[in-house]
Amino acid sequence: MLGSYLVTWLLLQCLALGAVIPSPLSGTQYGVVDKSCPCGYVLTEYGNAYYPYYKLVTFDSLPVGPLKSANGLESLGFDISDEIYIGGTGPGNTTSVGHYYNIHIAKQSKAKDASHIMQLIVPGGQRAPGNLSGAEIHSSQAFTGGVFTAEMQMSGIVGTDQSMFTYHAADNSDDGPQDEQDIEILAAYLFKAGKNGTPPGVELTNWDPTDPENEKHSDTIVPFPQDPTKSFHNYTIAWLNQTTQYYFDKTLLKSPKGYYSYHPSYLYLNNWSDADPEFTLGPPKKTVIQQVKSISMYYHTAAQPGILAGCSMNQACLV
Ligand SMILES: *[C@@H]1O[C@H](CO)[C@@H](O)[C@H](O)[C@H]1NC(C)=O
Ligand SMILES: *[C@@H]1O[C@H](CO)[C@@H](O)[C@H](O)[C@H]1NC(C)=O
Ligand SMILES: *[C@@H]1O[C@H](CO)[C@@H](O)[C@H](O)[C@H]1NC(C)=O
Ligand SMILES: *[C@@H]1O[C@H](CO)[C@@H](O)[C@H](O)[C@H]1NC(C)=O
Ligand SMILES: *[C@@H]1O[C@H](CO)[C@@H](O)[C@H](O)[C@H]1NC(C)=O
Repeated sequence: MLGSYLVTWLLLQCLALGAVIPSPLSGTQYGVVDKSCPCGYVLTEYGNAYYPYYKLVTFDSLPVGPLKSANGLESLGFDISDEIYIGGTGPGNTTSVGHYYNIHIAKQSKAKDASHIMQLIVPGGQRAPGNLSGAEIHSSQAFTGGVFTAEMQMSGIVGTDQSMFTYHAADNSDDGPQDEQDIEILAAYLFKAGKNGTPPGVELTNWDPTDPENEKHSDTIVPFPQDPTKSFHNYTIAWLNQTTQYYFDKTLLKSPKGYYSYHPSYLYLNNWSDADPEFTLGPPKKTVIQQVKSISMYYHTAAQPGILAGCSMNQACLV
């Protein structure tokens, strides 16, 4: 009697603890509850943070070649910054302008893996000062927190900023939210310090969500655990409750302490140059191609900040 009760109890506990094997959605829509994890996710590697939703973006559904329109990523839930200024402003007002045709779907160079990747391209040989053509995408959904991972391979060609970041979704007015959390890779300083003293490594920055001057920030520059140009790696922004942690594969990087975001924000990836001699350098002589294999997102939103209706935390899938 006791034995079978115990077994049943253990079984129930296992289920209650979320010992459900999740089969993550590769869905097109945001905010769709995964049928195999109807109560959301508890992320054991991120302090048991809870998120109601998961979305995995891959590029196999898109044909190989340059995108044909500014809606080219709509089916994946991403918008393209087209004919819009992206990145910073360098000397002589040099700024990058995003263009859909700088986003290509390609087969992986390694024949073994047939999956498609997305390339964010800054064409080589452009001239500053002036507009420099670049590439930028962002999630069509705004998040209020989450764990965002992009599997990417960076170019080592100097002259651009290859980045992944979250950025507030509000109108860009001076008195509105200014949230921004950045992973930036400047090929000029991958393994060598810059002439201006910039240390080598990956640049991580949290910007003060309330600073209208957009100057207050907290940043660190951390050596790359491995060469980001040689193969794909996972770059993660873990925008947790009241802290933001950045990861390179499974390695937690020394993350900036202050100014985590809290207003609804989009997830961005971009590749741009403003020819700033103190920052991106460039424009690049040769074409710079940032390669993206997948983007995974566990997240919550302003409309669904916590546990899903009818669920308790111990019904969530442990991932
Ligand atoms: C730069 O790009 C912006 C945005 O597309 C456009 O409005 C502007 O006319 C361009 N400037 C030049 C000099 O091409
Ligand atoms: C840069 O752009 C701003 C705003 O468009 C303009 O006011 C300023 O005169 C420009 N400066 C130069 C050097 O072109
Ligand atoms: C990135 O993460 C995914 C999902 O966990 C994993 O399948 C992939 O192997 C990882 N890539 C690298 C380079 O570690
Ligand atoms: C976030 O942290 C604050 C302060 O520790 C706490 O009051 C709040 O309940 C936390 N929210 C979530 C969603 O965990
Ligand atoms: C960014 O653009 C540069 C210049 O075209 C390219 O070499 C690099 O691979 C691109 N980076 C990404 C991450 O797409």
